[in-house]
Amino acid sequence: MNGSDLKDKREAAGAGDAGLDMLLRQLHEDIGLNLKQYKPNYLKRRIGVRMRATGCSDYLQYRRFVKEHREEGKRLINDLTINVTEFFRDPDVYEAIRKQVIPAIMQYKRESRTSSLRAWSAGCATGEEPYSLAILFQHALESEPDPRSWTLRITATDLDDKALEKAREGRYESAKVPTGLAIEDYFDREGDEYVVKERVKRPVRFLLMDIVRQPPLRHLDLILCRNVLIYFEREKQQRILDIFRQCLRPGGFLVLGKSEAILGPSEGGLVPFSRKERVYRKEGYQLMDNGSRRQGAR
Ligand SMILES: C[S@@+](CC[C@H](N)C(=O)[O-])C[C@H]1O[C@@H](n2cnc3c(N)ncnc32)[C@H](O)[C@@H]1O
Repeated sequence: MNGSDLKDKREAAGAGDAGLDMLLRQLHEDIGLNLKQYKPNYLKRRIGVRMRATGCSDYLQYRRFVKEHREEGKRLINDLTINVTEFFRDPDVYEAIRKQVIPAIMQYKRESRTSSLRAWSAGCATGEEPYSLAILFQHALESEPDPRSWTLRITATDLDDKALEKAREGRYESAKVPTGLAIEDYFDREGDEYVVKERVKRPVRFLLMDIVRQPPLRHLDLILCRNVLIYFEREKQQRILDIFRQCLRPGGFLVLGKSEAILGPSEGGLVPFSRKERVYRKEGYQLMDNGSRRQGAR
């Protein structure tokens, strides 16, 4: 093999899957995140954007760049974890949560004589999702005879520390609430900003966490994991769904994004509750908690 053949071979390796593999291995070592769990095309597209931005022509060159410029690794993570979100994203889904899911949860609690409501927003981005949930639960609690006897805890997790910082601040350029609710009950206005009121913030706890790691959460009533699974390979999606199943109590609910679904037979006993809104429910509960099973209305 002559010198130019060798050069061609090295260049091909740098641009191809072998180069990508080496880059991913280094990133895993340096920043502790296993990027191999993401879909290859998604990774290539996003890494390609950073390569162009840093003037690197192949994966190996970019790998060297990341090694020499530590902040680039963080920048890449930020770019991979796009945080597009909004309050009450997909209003019909939140309507289903408000009208079907929360009443079913509260009925279950009454029947089982417990008063703690526990939810998880997995991949919460900048916080709009867990705060939307907090608003709906608080609205529901207002019609209870003794709202103060209930406790609400929403754990909100994401991998992106910058997004979580914004989430904890709870200041937004725009905000909305569903019809029938008054925005001033949940947000203060400060100049052009909407600031989440303390009573909405209080039940929400934000944590930096990789979704594929088993969290210390059990007996949850509700998990929202919306517009996150799409980035993962099928096998990882299964692993994540398995984690959710373990974290939910029997009869607990899982809400996915509109373009996401549990395909095939559900090993974990997560069955469709409201197909269109991508609401699933864990089987195995004894109490009849909203009549929907009795009537077969799904
Ligand atoms: C498009 S946002 C969705 C936000 C919100 N759930 C919604 O539907 O409006 C996707 C979020 O998933 C987070 N994410 C991506 N990979 C993750 C992982 N491995 N662990 C935890 N969060 C992750 C991203 O940081 C990002 O904030």
